Amino acid sequence: MRHWDKLGEAPIPGTSRHLELFRGKDDFFIRASGGTELMSTRKRGSEEALGTLICRALKQPTSARVLVGGLGMGFTLAAALATLGAQAEVTVAELVPGVIEWNRGPLGEAAGRPLDDSRTRVFEGDVAALLDPGNPTKFDAIALDVDNGPEGLTRSTNDWLYSDAGLAAIRQSLRPGGRVGFWSAGPDPAFGRRLQRTGASVEEIRVFAHGNKGARHTLWFAEWRKEKG
Ligand SMILES: C[S@@+](CC[C@H](N)C(=O)[O-])C[C@H]1O[C@@H](n2cnc3c(N)ncnc32)[C@H](O)[C@@H]1O
Repeated sequence: MRHWDKLGEAPIPGTSRHLELFRGKDDFFIRASGGTELMSTRKRGSEEALGTLICRALKQPTSARVLVGGLGMGFTLAAALATLGAQAEVTVAELVPGVIEWNRGPLGEAAGRPLDDSRTRVFEGDVAALLDPGNPTKFDAIALDVDNGPEGLTRSTNDWLYSDAGLAAIRQSLRPGGRVGFWSAGPDPAFGRRLQRTGASVEEIRVFAHGNKGARHTLWFAEWRKEKG
C-alpha cells in the first residue's frame, strides 16, 4: 500500500471546507475535505495543454497579458510562461492562501517554481474579482481551471463563472481578439452549448490527463470575433 504524508491543510475562504496537501514517495496530491482529489503531480497533461494552447494562439505572445485562475500546482501557469515572451505578464488568481504558500514551499519544484518568474503576478482572492467590469485591466487570454468542470466544486459561488452572466463578464475582460480557455475533467454538452449561444467561436478538445493513453480531459477555447452592439 502506498504511503502518503499529510503536509498541510488550508481553509477555503467563504466555506467551512479546506484543501489538504499530501506527499508520496515522488509525487503530491491535493484533495478537498470530503475526499475529492482535485490535483495530482502525476496528472498534468491537460493542465499544461490549457496554458500552452491558450497562449500559442495569441497574436503577440511576446508582450501578452494573461490571466490564469487558479494556481493549483502551477502547471497551467508554468506552461503559459513557457509559451510567452519576455515582456509578457501573467496574473495568477488563487482563492486559497495556503495553496500559494505550498507553491512557494514544498510543491513549487513540481512545476519548476513558476511563482519565482519575474513575469508572474499573484492575486490572492477570487478570480471573479478580476473579471468585474470595474477592473480596467483587460487580458489577451484567460485560462480558467478552478473546479473539476463547469460547476462550482471548490465553492458554490464559482457557478457564476460558467453562467451567462459570468461568460459576459469574461468577454468584457478580454482585449479585442482575446480568448478564454476552460478546463474540465469531462465533457459537458450543456456548457458547450451555453458558450456557443454567446456568439463565440468555440473549439472543444479532449486531452490525455497523463502521457498519451488513458483518461482524457476536456478543454474549451472561446473567442468573440466582433464587439457586441
Ligand atoms: C484544479 S486546481 C487548478 C490546477 C492548475 N490548473 C494546475 O495547473 O495545477 C483549482 C485551483 O483553483 C483554486 N480556486 C478555486 N476557486 C477559485 C476562485 N474562485 N478564484 C481563484 N482560485 C480559485 C483552487 O484553490 C485550486 O488551487
